[in-house]
Amino acid sequence: MSQDKITSILKEDRKFTPPESFAAQANLTPELYKALKEEADRDYEGFWARLAKEELVWDKEFDTTLEWEPPFAKWFTGGTLNMSVQCLDRHLNTANHNKAAIVWEGEPGEQRTLTYAQLHSEVCKAANALESLGIKAGDRVALYMPMIPELAISLLACARIGATHNVIFGGFSANAIRDRVEDSECKLVITADGGWRRGKVLKLKEKVDEALNQGCPSVEHVLCVKRCDNHVIWNDDRDIWWHDIMPKQKTKHTPDSFDAEHPLFILYTSGTTGSPKGVVHSTGGYALWSKISAKWVFDLKPQDMYWCTADIGWITGHSYIVYGPLQNGATTLMYEGAPNWPEADRFWDMIERHRVSIFYTAPTAIRAFMKWGDEHPEAHDLSSLRLLGTVGEPINPEAWMWYHEKIGDSSCPIVDTWWQTETGGMMLSPVPGVTTTTPGSATHPLPGIQAAIFDSEGNEMPRGEGGFLVITKPWPSMLRTVYKNPERFKNGYFGRFEGVYFAGDGARTDDDGNFWILGRIDDVINVSGHRLSTMEIESALVSHDFVAEAAVVPREDDLTGQAIVCFVTLEEGDEGDALRAELSAHVVKEIGSLARPAAIHFTDALPKTRSGKIMRRILADVAAGRQPGDVTTLEDSSVLEKLRTIANETV
Ligand code: PRX
Repeated sequence: MSQDKITSILKEDRKFTPPESFAAQANLTPELYKALKEEADRDYEGFWARLAKEELVWDKEFDTTLEWEPPFAKWFTGGTLNMSVQCLDRHLNTANHNKAAIVWEGEPGEQRTLTYAQLHSEVCKAANALESLGIKAGDRVALYMPMIPELAISLLACARIGATHNVIFGGFSANAIRDRVEDSECKLVITADGGWRRGKVLKLKEKVDEALNQGCPSVEHVLCVKRCDNHVIWNDDRDIWWHDIMPKQKTKHTPDSFDAEHPLFILYTSGTTGSPKGVVHSTGGYALWSKISAKWVFDLKPQDMYWCTADIGWITGHSYIVYGPLQNGATTLMYEGAPNWPEADRFWDMIERHRVSIFYTAPTAIRAFMKWGDEHPEAHDLSSLRLLGTVGEPINPEAWMWYHEKIGDSSCPIVDTWWQTETGGMMLSPVPGVTTTTPGSATHPLPGIQAAIFDSEGNEMPRGEGGFLVITKPWPSMLRTVYKNPERFKNGYFGRFEGVYFAGDGARTDDDGNFWILGRIDDVINVSGHRLSTMEIESALVSHDFVAEAAVVPREDDLTGQAIVCFVTLEEGDEGDALRAELSAHVVKEIGSLARPAAIHFTDALPKTRSGKIMRRILADVAAGRQPGDVTTLEDSSVLEKLRTIANETV
């Protein structure tokens, strides 16, 4: 945590109250908001039980609201339901029947609209197709797909038959696919020949083939959507075209009902040490919170055109492109490609053409838009917008103000939503008709969420002081475990404070009780809102024959929030740009292009403590072009000379 950053953030005192016109029509009024908070404080379980009964369609009502044996929670036990019914069947034969559920735009410009009735038929067909391939409730299915409607259809089809989906972001490498598919022992991989990105085809099927050639013995079939018509290698015994199997299926499918605790999905996320963690989410609790958090924070209304620009490969896409909006009967816009293709105004052009009213994106994207120039948003009519949101990393006040003025015409509330893969849904966020916002702060916990800031002993910190951000009570959409690794779940999230969830982030509150996120306090780098483990990048580097040792630290970056800086000691080979490029390509191959290093420095040795721990603090200084600070615990101070030179060259 950088003290400078804390101080500068605290100087921020601009305040924005909800515009009157917005507040007057909001789903949550100040009175309702206050009543919800009071209800949750008065009777925590009763609060959640009431919402679960009102918001979800239960096939069998639950007996118990919460069984809490720290750190293991079970919500709504005894109850059974089906997530695809919450998203689809419940809207049939209502006013939503012929309403657009998904409006999709491909990068080359094609458009497809699926009404709730049509999406239901497609999901039923896909559910029948999966069953015909032998997929049953409890089986795991990996999805490695571009942002096309078939991805949402596949998600919902898995949910319908109780298969646990495991979405792997389409930018990940073959090795990353293999690790995730092997860890979760998937029986089926759903993919596509390719996906469009900046006018080029990302060859997805090829990556899946590469992963399966390396291992993944559990995989019986690969189901492949034809998207780009690029050449693919076909394995007749294993591979099936989506367009061959789907037309044979019935458009009706009777959904089974699953236990509220049935695992809806696994999503892998980087941890502080070792391999990625399979975060497991439930059905009932996740359904409830993804639904009501979307309704409260996005103020979803029947006439809204809602657009979240995330990829479904991340939790944001799961909760707020698919499950949250569809459960609310909203229209969700889905876009396949890059924000600057064919031009830097693609997003603004889409907002104008689709009359987008709610827009949810990441601070890293906002900083890129600022850099590309105001002329791009200025060339478009953005008057349909009424609410803006951000997620993924702290938003710096300059970016917040730009978003507010240039995109929101100074009249749209901004919801800066703090949450995580593990939390399943938003935890800290303004509620747009209620909360007074300050640029850079995610403001307050949502009703029902009990957040606090602890010191290292577990005492609550006084206002104004930084500490560990914790959630003191279980909540319905919390992760249930780390797949096949309950110990890791226990130690990783509940190891620091007993019975209390530690998010891994530092935070502080201000005089108004607003929460300010201060970034990760462990060794995770947040590049463009994506969490990458320093350990994973280090082990990728060390897997190169020439590398002896590697340490990876974050450096602040105007565009991506944080950037990856690597320090490498060599066993052989020549220090120079050729090897730098080779190592960089090696990391990309092992992990994916998100992990491309911003800088690679060669050094004779890494700075270590006497106990052999790498002193990342010193490396972080050097990476930022600062001379190393306190070096008294350093084992061998001769390494400093080279590091000082690197720091000088970096300035
Ligand atoms: O450090 C916080 C940061 O992103 C982390 C969670 O990353 P991930 O699981 O990939 O989920 C991202 C999308 C929900 C958090 O621990 N983060 C997320 N949102 C914010 C944030 N930091 C500051 N402000 C936010 N609004």
